[in-house]
Parts: sequence; C-alpha cells; structure tokens
Amino acid sequence: MMPNDSDPKALIEAARVAAGNAYAPYSNFAVGAAVQLTDGSIVTGANFENASYGLSLCAETVALATLNAQGRLRDVVAIGVVGGMIGDHGATGTAPVSPCGRCRQIINEAAQLGKRDIAIFCAGAEGDAIVEYRLSDLLPAAFGPADLGLA
Ligand code: THU
Repeated sequence: MMPNDSDPKALIEAARVAAGNAYAPYSNFAVGAAVQLTDGSIVTGANFENASYGLSLCAETVALATLNAQGRLRDVVAIGVVGGMIGDHGATGTAPVSPCGRCRQIINEAAQLGKRDIAIFCAGAEGDAIVEYRLSDLLPAAFGPADLGLA
C-alpha cells in the first residue's frame, strides 16, 4: 500500500474486532478504533471504562496512546471508529459512531506531528454503511502545537 492510502473496509473490520475487547460494563457501549499508518499497518484500541466513570478512556485515545508508545504518532493516515450497545452476542446497531470532542483534539496532535489531515471512517457495530470525514471537518480551527510554538 502506498503511503497515505487508506482502506476503509479493513479499518472498520479491525475496529469491530477491537470493539469485542471493550471494557464497558458501565455504559454497555463498546467502541473500537483502528489506526492506519503510512506503512499500511493497523493498530487498534477499545474503550476502557472505570468504576470512577470520568476516568474512562475512549477507544481512539487508547489506540493513539499505544502508537505513541511505539514512537509512531507521526505516521497516522486514517482512523476507523465503530461502536454500539452490547447485546447478548456483542455490539449491535448500525448508527455510525464519530469521535468525541476530546478524541478529536488528541487525533489533532497526530495530524499536526505528521503534517497531514487524517481521514476518519465511522460506522456502527453492524452494517455496510461507512461515513468518511477529515479531521479538519470535525475539528476546524483547532488549537494545537503551533499555538505553543511547536510542530
Ligand atoms: N467512547 C469512545 O470510546 N469513543 C468515542 O469517540 C465516543 C465514546 C466510549 C466512552 C465510553 O466508554 C462509552 O463510549 C460511552 O460513552
């Protein structure tokens, strides 16, 4: 795969697998995220809730923190996000899930470091529909490293 190409179907599929590992006993809402890098590789995350509710981590944030630990925050090309309420046989529903405001800001750090806009593909836990955005659509006029004289 060429750098900056992305494969929405592969991302959504990987995000759905990751959503299967969501730890979401409080909301019963499973989210999976899959991040595609310039070399085509995919790193995933799932939401990670806490009994102290406000400490819960979103799937996108978990995936990006993993990438940071691998030194690859600059290499993000695209992100797939899926989610749905957890039923007897896993997450359900076809409504696309888009990143929360905090995650948008965290994705922006990767976009600025990599000097590229990031494609964001959103889907439900089930179904074929995929909605595509760019980070610049979801977080216009973002505050970022440049405001602090960096990146
Ligand atoms: N959640 C995510 O993981 N990503 C989002 O972009 C939206 C919300 C999680 C947080 C919480 O564990 C559950 O979904 C319900 O809000």
